[in-house]
Amino acid sequence: MMIKKLALFLFFLVFSGLLLAQESNGDASVEKKVFIDNLLSKMTLQEKVGQLRLVSVGGDLTLHKVLDQIQAGEIGGIFNTVVEPDLFQMQERALKSPSKIPLYFGFDIIHGHRTVFPINLGIASTWDRSAIAKVAEVSANEATTDGLNITWAPMVDITRDPRWGRVSEGFGEDPYLTSEAGRIFVEKMQKQSLADKKSLVTTVKHFALYGAVEGGREYNSTDMSERKMFQEYLVPYKAAIDAGSRAVMVSLVSVNGIPATANHWLLTEVLRNQWHFDGVVVSDHGAIRELINHGVASDPKDAVRVAIKAGIEMSMNDEYFLQFVPELVKEGAISEDEINQACRHVLELKYDMGLFSDPKRNLDPTLDIDTMFADNRLHRAEARDVARRSIVLLKNENEILPLAKNKKIAVIGPLADSKRDILGSWSGAGRANLAVTPLEGIKNAVKNPESISYAFGANLSDDENLYRFLNLYGETTKFDNRPADKMIAEAVKIAKKADIVIAFVGEAEGMAHESSSRTDLSLPATQKQLLNALKKTGKPLVIVLMNGRPLTLSEEYAQADAMLETWFLGTEGGNAIADVLFGDYNPSGKLPISFPDNVGQIPVYYSHLNTGRPRGTENMGKYTTSYFDSPNEPLFPFGFGLSYTNFAMDFSLSSSEMNKNGEIIVKVNVENIGNKEGMQTVQLYLQDVTASVSRPVKELIGFENISLKPHEKGEVEFVIKYDMLKFWNDKMQYVAEPGKFNVFIGSDSTTQNKQTFTLLD
Ligand code: NOJ
Repeated sequence: MMIKKLALFLFFLVFSGLLLAQESNGDASVEKKVFIDNLLSKMTLQEKVGQLRLVSVGGDLTLHKVLDQIQAGEIGGIFNTVVEPDLFQMQERALKSPSKIPLYFGFDIIHGHRTVFPINLGIASTWDRSAIAKVAEVSANEATTDGLNITWAPMVDITRDPRWGRVSEGFGEDPYLTSEAGRIFVEKMQKQSLADKKSLVTTVKHFALYGAVEGGREYNSTDMSERKMFQEYLVPYKAAIDAGSRAVMVSLVSVNGIPATANHWLLTEVLRNQWHFDGVVVSDHGAIRELINHGVASDPKDAVRVAIKAGIEMSMNDEYFLQFVPELVKEGAISEDEINQACRHVLELKYDMGLFSDPKRNLDPTLDIDTMFADNRLHRAEARDVARRSIVLLKNENEILPLAKNKKIAVIGPLADSKRDILGSWSGAGRANLAVTPLEGIKNAVKNPESISYAFGANLSDDENLYRFLNLYGETTKFDNRPADKMIAEAVKIAKKADIVIAFVGEAEGMAHESSSRTDLSLPATQKQLLNALKKTGKPLVIVLMNGRPLTLSEEYAQADAMLETWFLGTEGGNAIADVLFGDYNPSGKLPISFPDNVGQIPVYYSHLNTGRPRGTENMGKYTTSYFDSPNEPLFPFGFGLSYTNFAMDFSLSSSEMNKNGEIIVKVNVENIGNKEGMQTVQLYLQDVTASVSRPVKELIGFENISLKPHEKGEVEFVIKYDMLKFWNDKMQYVAEPGKFNVFIGSDSTTQNKQTFTLLD
């Protein structure tokens, strides 16, 4: 009786609490609506258009001009400034504008802010949700400390063509892994409430399909079936929006013949009507005027009309909005309601950010440049931890790694001591002088730094055009004018005296950036010559790769005794590399993207469809899906990565049948069968064997990490639910179809470790 009464009392408490919470939420949203309605009713059309303009200081647009435009109420948001006194000054001027609407401040915080973390391909290589969360949390923390309110991230374009330079900015080829990374970025950056002073609003980008440009050529067109879009490429954007991302940035490219910026189907039917997105839609830099080149607008005014009609709300660095929107409204080509709606979204965002009550939040007008870039503002421990988790061990013959710390080591290569390159692209608020190079990291790790010798060895390339390209906007990559053979001879000399040679080769960071597509993914000849010469010394050769995309590496793979993929690891990169080389951290990274054997295979990705004539082991004849001059398989598959220990795995399903309301528990036994402690990523893949449309040979649907001591056993569990079996069927309905499903468990996407269950009718 007593228990019953207590339960009733508790129920009452919870229920009334819920009611109260709902009521106060309701009050808050009424308050917000009243505030914004009132504000909008007093704003001129010109001011409303001003709210839709995102502007950055630069070129003709001097700080002085920008300040004047702000005060006139002609600018809604500023981006690309991270100097707090400047931001403070801008906000003061906004508060003197006719409607006193505060600005918001944006910046590209792609993989860290002051502290630079690994590029996103590296972050994705951790396959570790807590590491991804750490990047997002630290980045948001540092960015908001700098007075920023919004970022143009996460970038969740699926990338399957490594010729495209922005592969470096994404989380790889897989919808599930990319969605997980995007979701975590949104949740950890925005936090529970935008009103939290440490909350940074996210802008998921680039909506949509930027990563699918034809031929991997930057800004090129994309063309794709709707099924493939909904099944794969659109999934991560949707995941980020479902996680609450309050802004979306539209891609620069055309999607099935219509530029995304002019694509009503994409921006209104899909994004607004189907996905119910109610945040702000931002165009990419200059995208509106580019509609003229795309051939869907006749002149600037027409471009503004087309973009707004499609669903663009804020324009990024476009002078045309202010010039033409009022005219277009007057002529009836666009309605004031459309502008009101867009402006409302911007004001709502500012309201939720708390800017109306605290416009100068986090802004310190006295902050000087030295303090701003001070080392003590960095999060080095976090950066090092994520960086070492991002490293992927690709080869380790005869267990040459980890190295003993008392060896004589020759550190060689154009990237071994480069502070700029290790930061990677999109690291505008980072500082190269604060970064740790591999050479520095190795010296920090050993007891006797004298045992480490160093030679530059070779230029990244001898192609003058490449250097011209890299240094177009100021010198980032120095060309060493010494004769190539002299540099190689110097490297060989120190290699011969050493016990082991570590060569740092790959790309300059500027080679894996926006607008840096390549057709040749091999190492440039200068670097190959260097490696050949080092190999000839007969010394054990460790190749450490620094690059922002999959490269074609079959020659280097054959040469290397050990090989590490380190991407561009950020501020603490050098220390993280040393941690792995010397075994202070047992590598656990896994590739988030396949590495082609050769460029001709592209696109090569694990989750392809089967063909009617698959090339099986027994069916190697002529009329099968194959090349006569190349394997079908990539050099390194998706999900691949070695460890200094080995793991054994087996698994079972809780049932061989499942119904609509049921679930299947997948129990995986993992054993560390080696002699070192290590972490394994257990990967769960699924195949729908027969359906109304062809389904991929395998799709990632889950992953979990497990750390085990030598000979320790552990268990990982996954739950397969009905919703996870859904796909876009022959009628473009999102359903699960009864039938047979294969479940694969493994340490990479080539696993054949399989069990089967049936989904009942
Ligand atoms: C152009 C890039 O495509 C986009 O990703 C970036 O956010 C903007 N520029 C702003 O820097």
